[in-house]
Amino acid sequence: MSSSTVINNSSTTAWDQSSLPEKIQTFDEYKSLYALSTENPDRFWTLAAQRLDWYQFPTKIKNTEFDYRTERGVEIKWFEDGVLNVCYNCLDRHIAKDPSVGEQVAIIFETDKLTEKRHHITYAELLRDVKRFANVLKNHGVKKGDRVTIYMPMIVDTCVALLACARIGAIHSVVFGGFSSHSVAERISDCESTIVITSDFGVRGGKCTPLKGKIDVALTMEQCKSVKTVLVFQRNHGLSATEDDCAEQRSSLLWVDGRDYWVHDELEKVDDKCDPEPMNAEDPLFILYTSGSTGKPKGILHTTGGYLTYVSLTFKYVFAYTPGEVYMCTADVGWITGHSYVIYGPLSNRATTVVFEGIPTYPDVSRFWNIVDKHQINIFYTAPTAIRSLMAHDDSFVTRTSRKSLRILGTVGEPINPEAWKWYHTIVGDSRCTIVDTWWQTETGGFMITPIPNVWELEGGSATLPFFGIQTQLFNKETRQPLQPPNTGELCIRDSWPGQARSLYRNHERFVDVYFRPYPGYYFSGDGCEIKANGYHWITGRVDDVLVISGHNIGTAEVESALVQHAGVSEAAVVGYPDPKKNQGMYCFVTLKDGVEESDALQKDLIKTVREIIGAHVFPDIIHFAPNLPKTRSGKIMRRILRKIVEPDVHNLGDISTLNDPSVVDELIKKCPRSH
Ligand code: WTA
Repeated sequence: MSSSTVINNSSTTAWDQSSLPEKIQTFDEYKSLYALSTENPDRFWTLAAQRLDWYQFPTKIKNTEFDYRTERGVEIKWFEDGVLNVCYNCLDRHIAKDPSVGEQVAIIFETDKLTEKRHHITYAELLRDVKRFANVLKNHGVKKGDRVTIYMPMIVDTCVALLACARIGAIHSVVFGGFSSHSVAERISDCESTIVITSDFGVRGGKCTPLKGKIDVALTMEQCKSVKTVLVFQRNHGLSATEDDCAEQRSSLLWVDGRDYWVHDELEKVDDKCDPEPMNAEDPLFILYTSGSTGKPKGILHTTGGYLTYVSLTFKYVFAYTPGEVYMCTADVGWITGHSYVIYGPLSNRATTVVFEGIPTYPDVSRFWNIVDKHQINIFYTAPTAIRSLMAHDDSFVTRTSRKSLRILGTVGEPINPEAWKWYHTIVGDSRCTIVDTWWQTETGGFMITPIPNVWELEGGSATLPFFGIQTQLFNKETRQPLQPPNTGELCIRDSWPGQARSLYRNHERFVDVYFRPYPGYYFSGDGCEIKANGYHWITGRVDDVLVISGHNIGTAEVESALVQHAGVSEAAVVGYPDPKKNQGMYCFVTLKDGVEESDALQKDLIKTVREIIGAHVFPDIIHFAPNLPKTRSGKIMRRILRKIVEPDVHNLGDISTLNDPSVVDELIKKCPRSH
């Protein structure tokens, strides 16, 4: 029985109300709404869409096709004749309904250094800043449909930049600030941005790191010739020289006249009048690049109406949010979690959202919990990797703080192991707070499998049950046949939900190939999952060539192509292995060119090369010099065998008779530090 069968078979009363409830309070309520969402998605999502303000409310709700074999092919449209503006829904409408909301705090800015002056930004202030910055964009020729690359640290200006794009209908493409010049250049050129928004520096863990400098390098690359304008926020604008750690470095900034502009200068030239652009529900809102199993990063494309309807509803129900509560998500806006659950989900629900610039271990490992007390945070959402790194320290770093304000704790990004779950629950949450372990992806836009607080029992390590509208289905990887739970298989989703990506930017073919060709008629997640007899879902991790390391997705193909750019390398194969702290570790088999000597120095140099080419957050853990790799007779590297060697699970290598030279395997096992 699949979880949906469990749900559908139970006695449910039909949902006959004219609106959705404020909160989901009972399992029966969940069941009747779940039944409505799968049996009559048009009705359910009409009710959900009514939570937003539309210039024109849609009459067409769901119009989707998942089967590539049909004449139409894969196509996803929601609310297609609806007209709305995302920024209006996140800001203006709250104040329009109740002018006093202008005084409510929209963003609490928690700086790395604690000396910053501006901590609390009200809805009225945020709206004014967004309008003014939107006018700066307009002055620089940005129009509806233009792509804007945003390369910023975690500061309030970053939120302003995204919302300003949404206001005027420009498509933002945020690139995480840790990515290298090369990676930014690749992402700028793929979507042909003509403008880049950046900041001179970012400050994290007491260190000042250049961002504009990396853009300068990216823009020297041939593929970035489309960029005409760089708008630069000054990170410490308004601070005195003594408070400003970056003052000295700023003096050596490169400046290209006619291309580079300080935002604070440009803001002097604009007023704060800027009407939101009415957007069709299916107009693109943003592109966000994510790693794929092969080749270039994928430009995941999200649109306007379905995305906002979905992130808004999931935020509301999964955090059981009531305006007035303080919510904090520790994700960077460079990732989907930052888009959906630092900015769009919270603000569309009139939440107070915390923007955190720093890191969990600076100035010490009590940082998160001190912030919780300082701002009286009620809902706290982070990644298992952060939890695991903090639980390695003495519990007193947590227990010396109060944390009484906390009501809900959330996790995302990778499977949370039961020990970490337990520590989060008992030590951080004093066994009092509900934990929501939310499974979802860049591609899904919002939460897919997740508890709804206090509506059903939790099991530490399980994301539990599907959200409204989400029908899960497992498949057997070998037979390609559907599996009935209880079972373990590849996780797919039957039928569309409004928050899902519509395509890859200008590459619909690859979109279909990656997500819809593996199991015709289904969305393929790329994750493995076990569904137990009670319908609870346990995600087992990626089943493709994407690694999830400390919550970051890294395509092994990207690392391989970085390694072979090193002059000494002829070939590379990268696989993951289980790591208790980081979820996975990165193991690189490297074949050197003839005459190149193996050495520790070369290992270090290879690690450096990968970090320079992709980004400092990508770190090979083990470099294994291998004169030979296991290959089929046609020359294809058998990564399946490499994975088994490093896992290590050398007694289950499977059939190696198809290898060109089976003796290679023994050689590799002998030299592998993990096999012994
Ligand atoms: C993994 C992040 C287990 C999964 C929102 C997925 C998880 C990938 C969970 C997407 C979870 C995310 N339990 N695994 N609660 N949440 N994952 O695109 O492998 O950065 O496919 O989106 O992270 O990562 P992405």
